Amino acid sequence: MESVVGYPLDDFLASQTTLSAPHFQLVREALFDDLDHVNEMHARCSLDSRYARYGAARQALTPREWRRLCDQANGITVVAAPLHNPSRVIAVACLMRTSALHMRELGILVEDAWQGKGLGSILTRHMAALTRTRALDCQVITATTGSGNQRMLSILRGMGARMSPSRGGTVDALIRMKT
Ligand SMILES: CC(C)(COP(=O)(O)OP(=O)(O)OC[C@H]1O[C@@H](n2cnc3c(N)ncnc32)[C@H](O)[C@@H]1OP(=O)(O)O)[C@@H](O)C(=O)NCCC(=O)NCCS
Repeated sequence: MESVVGYPLDDFLASQTTLSAPHFQLVREALFDDLDHVNEMHARCSLDSRYARYGAARQALTPREWRRLCDQANGITVVAAPLHNPSRVIAVACLMRTSALHMRELGILVEDAWQGKGLGSILTRHMAALTRTRALDCQVITATTGSGNQRMLSILRGMGARMSPSRGGTVDALIRMKT
């Protein structure tokens, strides 16, 4: 089984949008042409994972939705792929503008077979690091997750997030970016 190797934040900053290392993945900016691979990943994900990401039983993204996510005017989206198979998408992370000034919303989906190996933690930190070069106006990152989503809660706590009380089974997290 492949292992995921964690990287210090500085390595992410230095590499900007592309990372590579033995046994690890490539992380790069998402392109509209990735849609088929992104939806193949969605098809390999369990209903639970898709529900955890979207709060709904989404099976796939429409071209319109994916185009919006890839449009840099709306935010930053990256995909991760195994090093040996760069066209296979195994995770998608988005940091999108919100209606609130200086606030971006994080969304992340790691394919089930790759969960629990550190990829979600690394991607979340990568997205936060990208704000320093790609979203200078971002002061706060928000994320909404299930109150039983231990992995996501653990990642968010590790980033110093402030959590709202659970409402309707979900928790809103707020990470204030250091200036
Ligand atoms: C939530 C998600 C992004 C986490 O990514 P991941 O790669 O699976 O998680 P990681 O391996 O990085 O582990 C994250 C944390 O959970 C812990 N963890 C790992 N496996 C765990 C398990 N089975 N139970 C509890 N905690 C676990 C890790 O120790 C780590 O803790 P740390 O941050 O304190 O070190 C991923 O599981 C996922 O995509 N889930 C479905 C979609 C989703 O929930 N998205 C979040 C809402 S937008």
